[in-house]
Amino acid sequence: MGGGARGRRRSNLPADLTSFVGRRPELREVKRLLTTTRLLTLTGSGGVGKTRLALRAAAQMSRGFPDGAWLVELASIHDPLLVTQAVFSALGVHDLSAGLSLSSLAEYLAGKRLLLVLDNCEHLLDACAVLAVTLAKACPELRLLATSRQPLRVAGEVRMVVPPMSLPAEEDEVSAQRLLSSDAVWLLSERAAALVPGFTVDAQNAAAVLDLCRRLDGIPLALELAAVRLDSLSIDQLNRGLAGKLSILGRGDRGAETRQRTLEATISWSYGLLGEQERLLWARLSVFAGGFEEDAAIGVCSGTGVPAGRIVDLLGALVEKSILTRELRHGRVPRYWLLETLRQYGRQRLRELGEQTTTQQRHLAWICALAGSADAWDDRQAEWFTRMSDERANLWAALNFCAREPAELATGARSAWRMMTFWACRGPFGDVRRVLSSLAETAPPRSLARAQLLWVAAVMAHRENDYGACAALCEESLHIGTELKDVEVVAWSLLVGAIPRWAEGDLTGATQRLDSALTLAELMQVKHVELDARSTLCGILTAAGELDRAIELGEQALAMSKSLGELWVRGFALNYLGQATWLAGDRPRGEALAREAAACKHALDDRNGLGIVLETLAWMAAELGQHERAACLLGAAERVRHETSQTLIELFRTQHEQSESIAVRGLGRKSFEAAFARGRAMTISDGAGFAVAGKQPPKPPPVAETEPHHGLTRRELDIARLVADDLTNKQIAARLFLSRRTVETHITNILNKLGLDSRTQLSRWMGEVTGPAAATERQRADDH
Ligand SMILES: Nc1ncnc2c1ncn2[C@@H]1O[C@H](COP(=O)(O)OP(=O)(O)OP(=O)(O)O)[C@@H](O)[C@H]1O
Ligand SMILES: [Mg+2]
Repeated sequence: MGGGARGRRRSNLPADLTSFVGRRPELREVKRLLTTTRLLTLTGSGGVGKTRLALRAAAQMSRGFPDGAWLVELASIHDPLLVTQAVFSALGVHDLSAGLSLSSLAEYLAGKRLLLVLDNCEHLLDACAVLAVTLAKACPELRLLATSRQPLRVAGEVRMVVPPMSLPAEEDEVSAQRLLSSDAVWLLSERAAALVPGFTVDAQNAAAVLDLCRRLDGIPLALELAAVRLDSLSIDQLNRGLAGKLSILGRGDRGAETRQRTLEATISWSYGLLGEQERLLWARLSVFAGGFEEDAAIGVCSGTGVPAGRIVDLLGALVEKSILTRELRHGRVPRYWLLETLRQYGRQRLRELGEQTTTQQRHLAWICALAGSADAWDDRQAEWFTRMSDERANLWAALNFCAREPAELATGARSAWRMMTFWACRGPFGDVRRVLSSLAETAPPRSLARAQLLWVAAVMAHRENDYGACAALCEESLHIGTELKDVEVVAWSLLVGAIPRWAEGDLTGATQRLDSALTLAELMQVKHVELDARSTLCGILTAAGELDRAIELGEQALAMSKSLGELWVRGFALNYLGQATWLAGDRPRGEALAREAAACKHALDDRNGLGIVLETLAWMAAELGQHERAACLLGAAERVRHETSQTLIELFRTQHEQSESIAVRGLGRKSFEAAFARGRAMTISDGAGFAVAGKQPPKPPPVAETEPHHGLTRRELDIARLVADDLTNKQIAARLFLSRRTVETHITNILNKLGLDSRTQLSRWMGEVTGPAAATERQRADDH
């Protein structure tokens, strides 16, 4: 349902979609360098294999990083200010923070032993440089592995140039056996064999295979594009076809520029071999950022020259030809990707075709329609939010287009308006507010677009505890809405404008605004405002002690939400209604409602809302004298805020402090801290489960100096993982900041404890205890 990164994952590295080939010396080198350097940049020309190498190295090393290995894909991001957010979301943190600062990221990562792969930095060099320097300074245990066509050029950066795949030396006699020891030939034959069963490099084709690999400079992307043609062409035909475009590799070093030309020529050759419809589709697909699904391709790319009914087949054909990558996802429709180099090529073709603007307009219209579905407030809300999470890069790209094209601003503003609930749940508040405020500056002063953008920015400001800005933004959107007589804008502005008053303690002013919003919404049948106004009024009236009316409104909101099917307001309505019911004397029902609120927020993966509900439940537990549960819930709420980089919402500070002081009084400071820490150690999922079940806290775990079933201490286990990753004692010592002698002693102890004789046995044992997946992964790596 809620999707997203639930629970605690240790990595987001993608599974291999095609087999990984060779690169043994390069992998060794990456691993060696990363033991002593904090920032390693893999540089090299497009398509040379930087990303594959980085991902493979990261996967092999991940076990040495207790806090995991994480991939941040930057190719689809074009706004340097979104880089920090991209890291947060790669880590599974919905960054909802105020200001979204790099310093909050540094704080989050400080003390973590983690590997971060920053992939495709070349178009964001400055932003990545600042990120790398800041993180390196603040997070001593963090390792950064960047891939980029150009280096970041910062102090402490170590660069490694990724060479093309190895080719047989010129003087080698051309025997099939020898050829296959070169990575380039191996890759070509792997890909060919996948397509043409039984394909092998043998005495007959050896010379032609060698020619082809040399002609393609050993560039993996070029080799893949050529190999897929072997289903219809022979190697000789391939060589002849490419001969006009590419001179054969001569002696001596061929620099990056030559390689770039080779790759471009190979791509354009491969483009030329496609059918008309495939070509057109490739060009049009280049407007997507961060991948796309079939329905999107149909919506955006069908039309003149490419009938909608052909798109699915054409996507399949482009996958077969290695232009697109298809990611199969359990229980969900597949998602397609264009490698960055191929996307850029498609972009050029689209420009030449003169279709760039129209395709971007269609992309924007598609995003706007999608945002409309996500804003339907029906029983598919959680599902739509998951989809919108996948489409974030597309959304930013569409808004970016609007910033350049004044004529599109109205559609962009409409999309943003419809995205409010999604952003209010998932953030990133600071970035959304910044992007929308700057878009609003380009809108005419009295336009609907400006009012819509300002209003969404106001909602974000509220989430950031910036009530002054929230009030001012709402004031302006209200003003414009009134002038334009736009009922929705007026009603929503009144509603959100009440929140800053509530925060200031002006409950009467807040209630008046909400009453006006509600009256208007009822009159004009603006259902969503009506629902939200009833729920928010329930909260404010509870704070004002007007419990009867609060309960009445809360019940109405709940009934209305159920008839719509939505979950977002329902979670808040349940929370406020729970508080009101509780205060009115029915504590069991009050608590049951708040628990249902937690379930609701969790189902929607609304972490902002979940944090609020956990605070309510902590307060109830404290009042009931369940001090340990209260402390645990406060810890769990703190964890949610930490994982989403939020601070406590000011509105709820008094309640928070009350709960804490009751629980501390009941337990004593030391036991309170211990219970709080247990709550804080829960994953978000576990915290939500604990809150919903209404149970007493789990028993504290035994002091875990040793891990179960093998008797190794944590330190020994860390070392065993690194041994399994093929690190030498020296490298392990450097990684863990220990002396070599200490590492040796640890290894002797480990072997004694486990009754093993050698490092090899230890590696195998690690493979077994860390699970079959890891063991297969190792096996595959060993096979290569
Ligand atoms: N060692 C390898 N084994 C198998 N396939 C590889 C290998 N290296 C690269 N490839 C394939 O070659 C293509 C290009 O590789 P990759 O995307 O890693 O290049 P890159 O240098 O990161 O390119 P860009 O500069 O465009 O980001 C991909 O399809 C990739 O799967
Ligand atoms: Mg790359």
